[in-house]
Amino acid sequence: MEPNIVEHTYQISAADRCKANGHNAFLLWFTGLSGSGKSTIANKVELALFEKGIKTYTLDGDNIRKGLNQDLTFSPDDRTENIRRIAEAANLMIDAGLVVLAAFVSPYKKDRENIKTIVKEDNFVEIYINTSVEECERRDVKGLYKKARAGEIKDMTGISSPYEAPIDPDIEIQTENETVAQAVEKILKHIEPKLNLNHE
Ligand code: ADX
Repeated sequence: MEPNIVEHTYQISAADRCKANGHNAFLLWFTGLSGSGKSTIANKVELALFEKGIKTYTLDGDNIRKGLNQDLTFSPDDRTENIRRIAEAANLMIDAGLVVLAAFVSPYKKDRENIKTIVKEDNFVEIYINTSVEECERRDVKGLYKKARAGEIKDMTGISSPYEAPIDPDIEIQTENETVAQAVEKILKHIEPKLNLNHE
């Protein structure tokens, strides 16, 4: 920490905000290849939570890279900085009492470990959207794999840049064997006790 910065103590605590909201706040982190289905599943989970009156917000790679992180490339160092900033932003949102959903490729294990340090382990739920690179390339929703094969995109995760799959994620979704609805159900079931609805 900077030597001349003295942390300010707020009058309203994170616990006060959770109590007022009637649920706990934490981070659902979706990791997986581009086109694996992270955003699709995260969006449906958010909708289900929103409909229950839970306060949520989604951070998504493609959107954040157009604003807050528009200065960052896909080099290993920039990906690390991308994830660090998102983790810090998510940490503020957790403090504000939200259930945060974050969908980022986040290919490096050490970067995902760092998120845990920033938001604290208890607040971190790692969800591995496991779709093979073959299937992502077959779907190629954004046409990026075709461009990567043609050499028009360098450092493409899964093609010319590594993806370090989580070894022991909290939740794993195999999109080639499970429907989106099943995935959403699985995630909601897993987080139900964590939400501590109505703060009983
Ligand atoms: S991360 O690796 O730093 O976590 P992030 O999730 O922010 O990546 O952004 C990934 C999104 O950017 C992908 O969904 C894809 O649409 C787009 N993209 C563009 N170039 C690349 C690339 N070289 N590797 C991966 N994704 C890319």
